[in-house]
Amino acid sequence: MREVGIGIAGFGIVGGGVLSILRSHADDIEARLGARIAVRRVAVRDAGKERAVGLDPALLTTRVEDLLEDPEIAVVVELMGGVDSAFDLVRGALERGKHVVTANKALLAARGEDIFRLARQQGVDVYYEAAVCGGVPIIRTLREALASDRINSLHGIVNGTTNFILTAMDEQGARFEDALREAQRLGYAEADPTLDVSGGDAAQKLCVLAQLAFGARLKPEDVLTEGITALSPEDFRWGREFGYALKLLAIARRTGPAEGAAAGAPDQIEARVHPAFIPAGSLLAGVRGAMNAVVLRSEALGPSMLYGQGAGAMPTGSAVVSDIIDLTRNILAGSPGRVPLPPDRPLVELRPHEEVRCAYYLRFSVKDAPGVLARTASKLAEHRISIAAVQQREQNDQGQPVPLVIVTHQAREADLRGAIDEIDRYPTTLAPTRLIRIESV
Ligand SMILES: NC(=O)c1ccc[n+]([C@@H]2O[C@H](COP(=O)([O-])OP(=O)(O)OC[C@H]3O[C@@H](n4cnc5c(N)ncnc54)[C@H](OP(=O)(O)O)[C@@H]3O)[C@@H](O)[C@H]2O)c1
Repeated sequence: MREVGIGIAGFGIVGGGVLSILRSHADDIEARLGARIAVRRVAVRDAGKERAVGLDPALLTTRVEDLLEDPEIAVVVELMGGVDSAFDLVRGALERGKHVVTANKALLAARGEDIFRLARQQGVDVYYEAAVCGGVPIIRTLREALASDRINSLHGIVNGTTNFILTAMDEQGARFEDALREAQRLGYAEADPTLDVSGGDAAQKLCVLAQLAFGARLKPEDVLTEGITALSPEDFRWGREFGYALKLLAIARRTGPAEGAAAGAPDQIEARVHPAFIPAGSLLAGVRGAMNAVVLRSEALGPSMLYGQGAGAMPTGSAVVSDIIDLTRNILAGSPGRVPLPPDRPLVELRPHEEVRCAYYLRFSVKDAPGVLARTASKLAEHRISIAAVQQREQNDQGQPVPLVIVTHQAREADLRGAIDEIDRYPTTLAPTRLIRIESV
């Protein structure tokens, strides 16, 4: 039986899942591969720590160099997280001609370009299925299953923590703070949830997906990013009245070349992460709790959706082990690079965020005074925004703000921002206007 040696850096949640699957599915994997995967070293920070999965202590090391220096290790599996140490390890592996598997979207979003360039130079593979949506095979789908097709849009629920919180806000009428506390209690949110609730984690994942789906070259700071911290149960209630569910979406959409661009100019894509109202009956609206899903629209296939667990030891471990198996197949067939890495130059441009077009939900907090609705509507019209629906609650207490909700037809983001800036300065506007984009997915 042939054997391929691997070294794993990181024996935490994902590392534990990977080692457990490699052990419990060893016979199936050998049968499918015609070879044995041999774990030669496992690097950790603290060799004395108690581990959920048993491992021969002789394999443990606190020196990641032990993985790099072992000539029998053909594949380095990076499961440490973070950017700097992970990058040093991955670069060290690639420089020595070793293949790499990683689950680290932060690393790919920040240093993906350098990693792919070096891998291309060295003629080795980099696989990263677990970096986006954990166990859901979205990377393989974009890289292989849809290699024939042209993707026009991608809408994803790619962060389980925020989807768990939004589901609780929707179904239990919970406030954001209470839903977050419950998510932390149940282990769905970290003690410091900032990266998740700010939309930053989803933006990192969108960069990885947009590169594969469109050949984009984005950094997280290029993505229009809004989190979920300002959402209130009231927004869910209003959404329901209009027939919408509220989700944090990662969106990339092809919009064609820039207006007035020369013939042959590249297409542009919108890239954004924000709460979005979507039709209550849509597939994504049914994605509850910590589950992940991505809807793709491509020219030949049309709409398709992938759905599953986006985190956790076993789902994520399963994606990592699939990468190890694929890579091992390439090694055994002598064909690294069989599935090409993303192109080395961008194929599309980022569309400026001011040019994004969609429909909007606007919740104004206004004084209940004559002429407020008329003045708001005429200011929107002045900025080329047409109204699709209006709802206003009756006033309860004297002097309290009255919500005025307007749903617009498709409008340009810059026009909408201009109108809201002016409306928010009216003396009859009592709180900043809440804006939520509406997506038809
Ligand atoms: N958790 C998930 O569900 C999930 C899902 C998708 C992707 N990911 C990604 O998978 C990666 C790992 O996540 P995780 O949740 O498994 O993290 P984790 O539980 O914190 O585990 C990290 C592991 O890396 C080790 N480590 C950290 N820095 C090291 C260093 N400099 N040298 C040697 N070992 C080092 C730690 O050692 P000690 O144990 O000794 O501290 C630990 O075993 C991250 O990139 C994450 O974004 C995670």
